[in-house]
Amino acid sequence: MSEKLLEKIERLKAERKAVILAHNYQPPEIQDLADFCGDSLGLSIKAAQTDADVIVFCGVKFMAETAAILSPGKLVLLPEKLAGCPMADMINAEQLSELKGEHPDAAVVCYVNSSAEVKAESDYCCTSSNAVEVVNSIPPERQIIFVPDQHLGRFVAEKTGRSLVLWPGYCTTHIFITEEDIKKARAKYPDAIVMAHPECSEPVKKLADELLSTGQMLEFVRKSSAKRFIVATEAGMTYPLKKQNPEAEFIAASDRAICPNMKKITLEKVAWSLEDMQYKITVPQEIRIKAKKALDRMVEILPSKAGKD
Ligand code: 13P
Ligand code: SF4
Repeated sequence: MSEKLLEKIERLKAERKAVILAHNYQPPEIQDLADFCGDSLGLSIKAAQTDADVIVFCGVKFMAETAAILSPGKLVLLPEKLAGCPMADMINAEQLSELKGEHPDAAVVCYVNSSAEVKAESDYCCTSSNAVEVVNSIPPERQIIFVPDQHLGRFVAEKTGRSLVLWPGYCTTHIFITEEDIKKARAKYPDAIVMAHPECSEPVKKLADELLSTGQMLEFVRKSSAKRFIVATEAGMTYPLKKQNPEAEFIAASDRAICPNMKKITLEKVAWSLEDMQYKITVPQEIRIKAKKALDRMVEILPSKAGKD
């Protein structure tokens, strides 16, 4: 790795009064460089709290948009314009508006993996770490539309006992993890604890010991005395887990579960982003104000504890 490149990033970061945020699925060198690494909720909170002038978001577009919605006075940069989330693109504002028309009294909960326009059409936003709490905060008699992730939606429905109107969206990376992968890994490492992300399919989740967001996985392992874990989420998650727990062993459930969009961020692009102040992520004011209401409700509701009850 080029030392000069790292020095350049540090210099530009200081000159621009920038903070670098990185999602847990980012390449190792980006996580090592970042001021803060975390899951979607942790990054949203950080984005809202930072007093930096510039936020360089090493993640995908909806994350940078979330930062722009929460921090209107800051400049938010995404180092790669094409780093999107296919799941977020599976529903648009028109489709959600049509669904709302079919269920006019329903409250709309959208997963943070959604566009600013979809958030603006929603009453509440949530991440995988607080989705259960968000749904539980809605009066039991109120019908709920949950978009776009059908798998997270089913997990929430099971945990809360609520029947949700689901949208058929899904993560194109987590879908690569199969029941067969979990069975094989369990047979090879019978002592390991299987942690799966709620974005996994239902058969995979049924085989897991713990259903956790990426931030909750880090928290769970930190408190656990176990020494071996099968990690059923984006394979890059083994990096922050190992970094935090060097004594333990982490086995990715599937090497195919790589999010190509998360891996589009490189050190060169971060340096260029700070130098040219690109790509600026902005959200039109009328959408920003509506989306912020849904996000504010999310940021207020913290997850109570990690893991399955
Ligand atoms: P979390 O880090 O919130 O668990 O989200 C996972 C994810 O797929 C982000 O795109
Ligand atoms: Fe989207 Fe899945 Fe990639 Fe997360 S891992 S950014 S949900 S495609």
